[in-house]
Amino acid sequence: MTGRTAPSGAWRPPLSLDEYAERARTRLDPAVWDFIEGGAGDERTLAANRAAFDRVRLRPRVLTGAGEGDPSTTVLGRRWAAPVAVAPMAYHTLMHPDGETATARAAGAAGLPLVVSTFAGRSFAEIAAVAGSPLWLQVYCFRDRATTRRLVEQAADAGFEALVLTADTPRLGRRLRDLRNDFRLPPHITPANLPADEADYSSPSEHGRTGLDPSLDWSVIAWLRSVSPLPVLVKGVMTAEDARCAIAAGADGIVVSNHGGRQLDGTAATLEVLPGIAAAVDGRCALLLDGGVRRGRDVLAALALGADAVLLGRPVLHGLAVAGADGAAGVLDLVLDELSEAMALTGTATATGADAALLAGPEDTA
Ligand code: FNR
Repeated sequence: MTGRTAPSGAWRPPLSLDEYAERARTRLDPAVWDFIEGGAGDERTLAANRAAFDRVRLRPRVLTGAGEGDPSTTVLGRRWAAPVAVAPMAYHTLMHPDGETATARAAGAAGLPLVVSTFAGRSFAEIAAVAGSPLWLQVYCFRDRATTRRLVEQAADAGFEALVLTADTPRLGRRLRDLRNDFRLPPHITPANLPADEADYSSPSEHGRTGLDPSLDWSVIAWLRSVSPLPVLVKGVMTAEDARCAIAAGADGIVVSNHGGRQLDGTAATLEVLPGIAAAVDGRCALLLDGGVRRGRDVLAALALGADAVLLGRPVLHGLAVAGADGAAGVLDLVLDELSEAMALTGTATATGADAALLAGPEDTA
């Protein structure tokens, strides 16, 4: 499972994340494929995330003596093998029966953290038992605060190291594919860390409407701090104003995210708003980004524009659907291999040294 070579047996790993996506599409039920791939509304934001990375032009420097390059980085005091973590996503069990335990094995093999969703299909204890890298909990705040509190306590008991409050989801975005399909979770797919008898989780959009607290404000950071000693990051920040509010409220980190285009349709791409947010943050807290990262070179572009690290979303689910833990590990290995290639070919010695000089501007291409 580990390393850059093909896992044993007849399984031949795809050569790009697009190939993983294509193989996953042919294996999954079409409604499940729509659930993971889809965005809100016209899917403009979903497309914008990817298009912003496609517009990037790198500036290779030659004869720099950079050598092999060191992709490792430190985030919230912990060393990561590379500036990449797995984004929180609900119900990995929809992709593979092993669910989040398979993802945790893959992330551990690659030395990359895993952000576990509130709606994980496997229990925090099961995930922690096989994890070999930091685990963070993504927190949805429910109308019933006691449920959220119990969730946070269970994760802390299992050794999770940080909380990622998702702030862009006062309700779920209108995802037309799911509405058309009347998407419902199969009965065996349930949120393993939430009380089984207190809600009907089968329709994510309906449960989102009735379960999530739509009236959160910045005081929720202080509340999280009052129930847990873990560092708190805020996910879903898309403006410099909110980055400043997050810091003022005591956040330890920010995830620039539009939820992979699944919430407000019509926002800018995350990569487009990153430089303004990085300027506002000015190194005062950890700064992560997600949305549309599909190549190792995308990681380098995000670092060059001010991120400390990125989260990788859908491609990890594709890997799981294709070959369980081996597939997820293959996806992460591929991204790390592409990142190392991009570093070597741009003359970037360390991931932490990536800056705006890596990116071509009008003066380079006119
Ligand atoms: C998500 N995302 C998400 N975010 C979150 O905070 N809590 C969650 O439970 C989920 N669930 C979820 C399920 C699925 C199927 C997807 C595709 C996404 C959003 C996720 O964390 C991340 O912001 C985006 O997926 C990143 O974009 P890419 O890499 O998928 O383009």
